[in-house]
Amino acid sequence: MEVRKLEVKFEQYNERGELNKEEQALLKQAVDAVDGSYAPYSEFHVGAAVLLENGVVVKGSNQENSAYPSGLCAERVALFYANAQYPGVAVKAIAITAKADHFIIETPIAPCGACRQVISETEHRQQNKIRVIMQGQHGKIMATEGIENLLPLVFQEEKLKKKK
Ligand code: THU
Repeated sequence: MEVRKLEVKFEQYNERGELNKEEQALLKQAVDAVDGSYAPYSEFHVGAAVLLENGVVVKGSNQENSAYPSGLCAERVALFYANAQYPGVAVKAIAITAKADHFIIETPIAPCGACRQVISETEHRQQNKIRVIMQGQHGKIMATEGIENLLPLVFQEEKLKKKK
């Protein structure tokens, strides 16, 4: 038996002004996207903004349903819509933030496991890493270069194929 370790890396910024202009603008779009959230059950409103390589920004927000599992996270709403509207156009970055009805979110909002899986498949399809930028309503910002930093040991489509 052998214990093996994986290293993940992320950048931490104290405030938005430390990001480059493009990323500041993307995070601002994620904040705007929160307004489109439909979250009467969790009262937790998430906004995501996806920057495409053609410069287009696609916004998404969480959409809930009284049949709870029928809802969808902001990140997947944005990524699925981006690919539906702009098939084949690569995703450069995704910014994520959130606002809760009854408390202030002071720490970065990291995507759930299912959204990480979708970010991973998007990266794999386009053969290019996606930058993930995360912030709460205030406070520090986290950014990672590539989903392997959020989802090590990922399941990828090759695993579905039988080795010849
Ligand atoms: N949510 C997102 O939209 N993105 C995440 O990465 C985490 C969770 C949503 C799902 C649900 O509508 C609410 O936040 C509470 O979990």
